[in-house]
Amino acid sequence: MKVFSGIQPTNELHIGNYLGAIKQWVDLQNQAECVFCIVDWHAITVPYDTKVLQTKIHEVAAVYLASGIDPQKSIIFVQSQVKEHAELAWLLNTITPLGDLQRMTQFKDKSAKFLQNINAGLLNYPVLMAADVLLYQTDVVPVGEDQKQHVELTREIARRFNSKFSEVFKLPKAQIPKIGARIMSLTEPTKKMSKTDKAESRIGLFDSPEQIKEKIGSATTDSGKEIRYNPKEKPGISNLLTIYSSFSNQSIKDLEKEFTDQSYQLFKQKLADLLIETLEPFRAQKAKLESNPSQLNEILTDGANHARAIAQDTIQKARSAMGLN
Ligand code: AMP
Ligand code: TRP
Repeated sequence: MKVFSGIQPTNELHIGNYLGAIKQWVDLQNQAECVFCIVDWHAITVPYDTKVLQTKIHEVAAVYLASGIDPQKSIIFVQSQVKEHAELAWLLNTITPLGDLQRMTQFKDKSAKFLQNINAGLLNYPVLMAADVLLYQTDVVPVGEDQKQHVELTREIARRFNSKFSEVFKLPKAQIPKIGARIMSLTEPTKKMSKTDKAESRIGLFDSPEQIKEKIGSATTDSGKEIRYNPKEKPGISNLLTIYSSFSNQSIKDLEKEFTDQSYQLFKQKLADLLIETLEPFRAQKAKLESNPSQLNEILTDGANHARAIAQDTIQKARSAMGLN
């Protein structure tokens, strides 16, 4: 089985990225050939700061390592170091209907958010993502709920290519976690936690103990007093229960029992303590890598070399299927 996934080096990674995506990757690396990418070409489709892009790339790599992704078992690399991604994206663009791209939820959201910068890259984003996945003959794409639509489009593009030219690509499937696929904002629990909203709305993976305490303490809760899971009526508490359950590996039912007749305040204190403890390795790994950046560069160069070898094999097949050479 082959697995591919990626994260954009934009803003700061948060617990939604970890629970929705990365946590599943760690388990998969013992049962499959895994490729985990830092998708910098995707990140530049929205306004960004050129001076900090390389730092953000290193931070994503630090998160991968701190989560337990092992470079001996899995390939970790930066997208722009393997040019075949751009080449395949171009080829796939020619068989992707404009209408399919215009109806993507993420395109609609981002073009509403960045009205001054609706560039062609933002529209073609899912085609580059399809190229990422298809180059590695991927079976499974472990992602959060919001990426399901993009993986379905990838599958459709692969199907279309195979029937128009010849059987070059495997048809991939999204794998969405049962709990944690959609972690909500701490301040507006009916919206998903996002890298681009205000800092109080999310817990960053590198947040200090003080920041964690403060953000959990001021997270929106619901009227009433009960600690009960009911996303419709109690979206705030339900989101905090989901986070608690995912990090402690206790079921939501058990947590409801444990916190029967307890106050929101005590529940939040316990959750903050849990997060401070479980996120400690992220802070430590970041500090370690900052003191020795050459180690990280070696991992990424080595990863790119391995990735390129696989990608070149697939792109050659795609070129010749299309009559190019
Ligand atoms: P992005 O932040 O868009 O680069 O997303 C990276 C990965 O994290 C993707 O697999 C997303 O589906 C996942 N993800 C992003 N936000 C959330 C969230 N609030 N809850 C769960 N998963 C998320
Ligand atoms: N679009 C994904 C996101 O926003 C990131 C991504 C790019 C990705 N290429 C990918 C995810 C390939 C999985 C597989 O989260």
